[in-house]
Amino acid sequence: MKEKREIYRFLHVTPRRIFEQLDQYVIGQRHAKEVLAIAAYNHLKRIEYLKFGGETTIRKSNILLIGPSGCGKTYLARTLARVLDVPFAYNDATAFTEAGYYGEDVEVAIGRLLYATNQNVDAAENGIVFIDEIDKIARRSGGARTGAGARDIGGEGVQQALLKILEGEKIFVPMNVTAHWNKYDYVEVDIANILFICAGSFSDLDDASETKAIGFFNGDGAQHEITTEDLVQYGFLPELLGRLPVRVKLDALNADDLVTILTQPREAMIPEYQRLCALDQIQLEFTHEALLEIAGAALKQKLGARALRAIMEKVMHPILFLGPERAGERIIVEAGDVLRAVAV
Ligand SMILES: Nc1ncnc2c1ncn2[C@@H]1O[C@H](COP(=O)(O)OP(=O)(O)OP(=O)(O)O)[C@@H](O)[C@H]1O
Ligand SMILES: [Mg+2]
Repeated sequence: MKEKREIYRFLHVTPRRIFEQLDQYVIGQRHAKEVLAIAAYNHLKRIEYLKFGGETTIRKSNILLIGPSGCGKTYLARTLARVLDVPFAYNDATAFTEAGYYGEDVEVAIGRLLYATNQNVDAAENGIVFIDEIDKIARRSGGARTGAGARDIGGEGVQQALLKILEGEKIFVPMNVTAHWNKYDYVEVDIANILFICAGSFSDLDDASETKAIGFFNGDGAQHEITTEDLVQYGFLPELLGRLPVRVKLDALNADDLVTILTQPREAMIPEYQRLCALDQIQLEFTHEALLEIAGAALKQKLGARALRAIMEKVMHPILFLGPERAGERIIVEAGDVLRAVAV
């Protein structure tokens, strides 16, 4: 087997470079971006190490993201896949059931990756599988959470099923997940190098005191370690947590973050609408107060950045409706325009 240094030469990325690329899209979440960049780099290093005959002594860097709705969990994972240029598959943990029950088997998660690569097994084997709503499969006594009764088919059983894909090697995977479940053709996929990113908001507990007790969100904005013990108490199997060694908490976005999201990143909405208007010879501008009102309206909905698109559609409605009829004009959107639009 080759020397370590020789192996690393094949990696032209560094954690810092991955971070810088994530930074062009994802606003705030500095810590999460750093942690993800390191985990992704270690993951690539592990793949290279195995390729050059190393043994599997480097642990897999599967990730658990915890943060409120609309703060960028899914977006961060998707962006990471894009930055690393690997396929990405989105899954909702609540759709999974224990094998034998009606619903999705966890293998479908890998099937989606195959689908994303047009059934290219080699490409899929280096992909990222994202599993959202992981907090919803926490074990609940009596299965109250899933309404499934004492069998709790959507909770512990799914966690058990996930164990085998999070650290498995070769498994049989449905070829075409869009087909009806009993018409699947299966193909063998080596999942040892698939990176799993799980995410959840952990904020939907009926009993608010339970949330406080585990101290994920205590309202003072301070960062708290998320311990395995906290997560076991929440209802996760220790074996599952052992397979999600990289854990990171994302922050709720504030008004300034939302204004930045509207204006700065590679896919920002305001420049997008400006380009759209420019095609009709309209020069579109927003005052800073208008941007703050848009952010404020989003904050009220408690959906984080997720709320911005719908608000922008309302704000832009009267402008886009007249569109080319106002060619040659300069339109400045002010706070009052936003307030009127969101009141509708
Ligand atoms: N930090 C961020 N920087 C830039 N854009 C963001 C950020 N967070 C969210 N967005 C935007 O908001 C959209 C929704 O965010 P995302 O889907 O990542 O939320 P989430 O954290 O996964 O929430 P949920 O818990 O509801 O699934 C993204 O597609 C992206 O456009
Ligand atoms: Mg999400």
